[in-house]
Amino acid sequence: MKPRPMLFKDLPLVYAIECESFSTPWSLEALKEEMCNSLAYYVVVEKEGQVVGYGGLWVVEGEGEIINIGVRKAYRGQGIGKSILEELIAYGQQKGACQMTLEVRESNEVARYMYTSFGFQVIGKRKGYYNAPKEDALMMQLQL
Ligand SMILES: CC(C)(COP(=O)(O)OP(=O)(O)OC[C@H]1O[C@@H](n2cnc3c(N)ncnc32)[C@H](O)[C@@H]1OP(=O)(O)O)[C@@H](O)C(=O)NCCC(=O)NCCS
Repeated sequence: MKPRPMLFKDLPLVYAIECESFSTPWSLEALKEEMCNSLAYYVVVEKEGQVVGYGGLWVVEGEGEIINIGVRKAYRGQGIGKSILEELIAYGQQKGACQMTLEVRESNEVARYMYTSFGFQVIGKRKGYYNAPKEDALMMQLQL
């Protein structure tokens, strides 16, 4: 279940995870562009020969920002999200990041539990950050 770097061939299934996981998913085009972003690092997890989870971060000037983590509904609760987060944090550390940040919907308890279990702490709130439905984002941070 070890995450591996995401490849162009993974994009259709990554897009399917994105659509299943978020009410305002990134487009396939946006995901393609991310593959060419030199500041970004994306990984996937495969099970039974299929991509079932993915996640990515940017590392900019000593700060890692978790961009997205999503797992296919049928595969949730099996440790895949944690394995992705662990890999992204390790990559940030390797690239010299001093801290990791992220935004999460205030009502997203599962994701908040996951981030908290890794030591992320709430450092602020962005009012009305998300659409569909409109909701505040909690900003979370982990010191490395
Ligand atoms: C958030 C998400 C990525 C977690 O992935 P996952 O593979 O199901 O998570 P894991 O099985 O690795 O569990 C990670 C932690 O999440 C929390 N968690 C998982 N399922 C949970 C549940 N049903 N209730 C409460 N907490 C839960 C726990 O803290 C768990 O750690 P633990 O097993 O040590 O207690 C997944 O639920 C998902 O894709 N959600 C939709 C997209 C999303 O919200 N992404 C995050 C955006 S910021």
